[in-house]
Amino acid sequence: MSLRSVIRGTGSALPARSVPNAELAAEVDTSDEWIVERTGIRNRFIAGDGETTATLATAAARRALDAAGLDPSEIGLIVLATATPDQTFPSSATKVQAALGIPDCIALDVHAVCTGFLYALTVADSMLRGGSARRALVIGSETFSRILDWEDRTTCVLFGDGAGALVLEAVEGDQGILATRLHADGRHNDLLYVDGGPSTTGTVGKLRMKGREVFRHAVVNLAQVMNEVLADAGLTAAEVDWVVPHQANARILDATAKKLGLPPEKVVVTVDRHANTSAASVPLALDVAVRDGRIRRGDLLVLEAMGGGFTWGAAAVRY
Ligand code: UT7
Repeated sequence: MSLRSVIRGTGSALPARSVPNAELAAEVDTSDEWIVERTGIRNRFIAGDGETTATLATAAARRALDAAGLDPSEIGLIVLATATPDQTFPSSATKVQAALGIPDCIALDVHAVCTGFLYALTVADSMLRGGSARRALVIGSETFSRILDWEDRTTCVLFGDGAGALVLEAVEGDQGILATRLHADGRHNDLLYVDGGPSTTGTVGKLRMKGREVFRHAVVNLAQVMNEVLADAGLTAAEVDWVVPHQANARILDATAKKLGLPPEKVVVTVDRHANTSAASVPLALDVAVRDGRIRRGDLLVLEAMGGGFTWGAAAVRY
């Protein structure tokens, strides 16, 4: 028995506006057929006026708290993963804290782009087991629609907005986060980046990506880190009930599962509905599969993601 961070509840939130491929194809030189065949994406949600990273994060956090049966005042730590904060500062985590009416807790943003949620989960898990707090909200929330170049068909069709959250609680036992593994390799930060920022251009910038090269690295890195995290937890791929992956491209999900020898039925896929929501994609997919009854208490989950930096990581969790 040891102190572990257990998932008490999950929640998610999407913008009101749903945008199918056909709507994009009317504006951009692309087609529903190309997008579905190359990515598996059929739809994404786009934030409207008044919908921001912090408002979506707050809505997802409220649902996770409801699912956990907890009051916001019982939260001692908020770790929010985002690459699209409402403002350069203060952190979006403090905005969520204020919106939830928590007078005092630890609150910070974590920035590792699409791997942000795995980084946030690892930070929260370490802080909970280290005694900084007893319960944490771990959130991934993004509004990538606001950093897309809507004239670049190679990127604008791939992303969407949304948020996912979970409540972690430090509990003695065998359930909860069993192991996490994180990596970064900054030599590749010119393959997926934003061409602006407060300290360079003084602007927000737009997303740029060399998709084919990112794809190649993603399959190799994700298979490697999943194997590592399972070995750390003393488990094998055959024992995994569900893979909850970062939702970038259905072909990446298929190729990674194949490398691990996992059947596609064990992979939670939401990229068709939500597209790539960066740091929100793993907790959004987790919440979908918990609420539709696929993921049950006691299941062994592997969460994984890869993104700009490059960064990549995985977690083995007994739900
Ligand atoms: O979340 C962070 C991690 N990100 C990822 O994991 C993304 C990884 N990359 C990918 O998912 C894929 O590489 C993409 C979906 C981005 C691209 O798919 P691809 O099969 O690698 O296509 P490609 O880049 O090799 O492009 C093939 C063709 C090109 O035309 P030519 O040069 O062969 O004539 C593109 O110009 O498809 C063209 N193309 C499009 N056509 C219609 C690119 N984007 C579009 C589009 N609609 N939206």
